[in-house]
Amino acid sequence: MHRHRVAAARWGLYSGRPPSFVPDRLPECRIVHETPEIQVSSVSKVFGPRPERALERLRAGADRDALRREHGWVLALDDLSLEIRRGEVFVVMGLSGSGKSTLLRLLNGLHRPTAGRVLIAGRDLASLPRRELLALRRSRFGMVFQHFALLPHRTVRGNVEFGLEIQGTPRAERRARAAEALELVGLRGWETRRPDELSGGMRQRVGLARALAVSPDILLMDEAFSALDPLIRADLQRELLALQARLRKTIVFVTHDLDEALRLGDRIAILRDGRLVQVGTPAQIVASPADDYVARFVSGVDPARALTAGVVAVSHGVAGAAARPASVLDRLREAGLTCACVVDPGGAPHGLVTADELARLAGADAPIGDAVLQPVRTVPADTPLAEVIVLAAADAAPIAVRESGGGPVRGIISRQALLAGLAHRGATLVGDGKGADATADGPETTA
Ligand SMILES: Nc1ncnc2c1ncn2[C@@H]1O[C@H](COP(=O)(O)OP(=O)(O)OP(=O)(O)O)[C@@H](O)[C@H]1O
Ligand SMILES: [Mg+2]
Repeated sequence: MHRHRVAAARWGLYSGRPPSFVPDRLPECRIVHETPEIQVSSVSKVFGPRPERALERLRAGADRDALRREHGWVLALDDLSLEIRRGEVFVVMGLSGSGKSTLLRLLNGLHRPTAGRVLIAGRDLASLPRRELLALRRSRFGMVFQHFALLPHRTVRGNVEFGLEIQGTPRAERRARAAEALELVGLRGWETRRPDELSGGMRQRVGLARALAVSPDILLMDEAFSALDPLIRADLQRELLALQARLRKTIVFVTHDLDEALRLGDRIAILRDGRLVQVGTPAQIVASPADDYVARFVSGVDPARALTAGVVAVSHGVAGAAARPASVLDRLREAGLTCACVVDPGGAPHGLVTADELARLAGADAPIGDAVLQPVRTVPADTPLAEVIVLAAADAAPIAVRESGGGPVRGIISRQALLAGLAHRGATLVGDGKGADATADGPETTA
């Protein structure tokens, strides 16, 4: 399959249904900056009277249930630490009552932590005077809710302008920014309608436009698509990804739907009873669940859709042009491979060299540069295995896996490795863990 087509298929553009808006350029990869936009550091949140007392009881050995029994205290978040990077879609998952919404409200200062700190772009929310906190919430954050929370008597435009009005933005600028936001969500021409004239999906687009109109750095989305029927929901997920490819906001997206989490998340955090159980990329979560709770979450997941080429790629199958044929041959035998991908010093693929050809070169004491190479097909590391399967079915030759965006070759996938990757998960995964999706230290986990 042609590379562009592979990418396009991934973004759902060949699904048969026309998307209501499409990005100018198909994103090949999502650029994520490393600066933490949001730092949550040892945060606990207790609801109930004199919540600090509850933490003292906790330290003295009481558990969650005891706290609830004693004074009706609810330990909504329990010593939670995480970092959210600028420009990433960070999904928060967990069963009902696990603390997802509480976490979201702590991020924009709607709740204050009982203990611990929340930093936004390095600034501790607790250090801000009330007015500044309010200003920060209004200018840096956009919120999108499950039930849209639109004002019924206002027009679509009036709803989208609402946040700007609160900020005191002049009328002409409000108009212009509302028009821009409505354009982004594909609702141009609907400005003068009222919410009850719109479908659910359109109402949520208005909700999204309202959040975007204030040009926030951070979008907080709490079960934003959960009230929509499945087809509309899938449309909005795709549109959010397309928007994100252009706008690169920091998005914190709460959901209890695993498919949605896997589809949207650059990383996923899983909460249980207010504690962080695991943080990782979708592939890490599926391939190496941190415990039984996460394993149960992902048990129904189709690995072909959730795992990526980078996870099963084997780095032993990559040979630099200066490598000695005999040692490459040894590595191939060790890894059970029949071919290696020869790469230039920058890591770009030249072609495949077979074990037979390597044996011939080794016998003749010739360099790898003399090898007769076979053409090699490549896929970006973030390609879902489902797409790799299509390629592997068409031709038995191994497929080289490159870093996204045309980076160096990370490893190769043989048919065997592919099948093993689909059949087994976790520790038995065939990839040798050298890739970005299966980092050397494995998924980040917390106790
Ligand atoms: N304002 C509040 N006062 C008292 N208890 C609260 C308050 N907000 C949340 N809680 C409690 O804190 C716990 C976590 O609630 P939270 O709303 O964060 O869960 P959630 O993961 O968002 O759940 P859901 O999936 O049902 O939305 C729950 O036990 C809830 O009852
Ligand atoms: Mg909630």
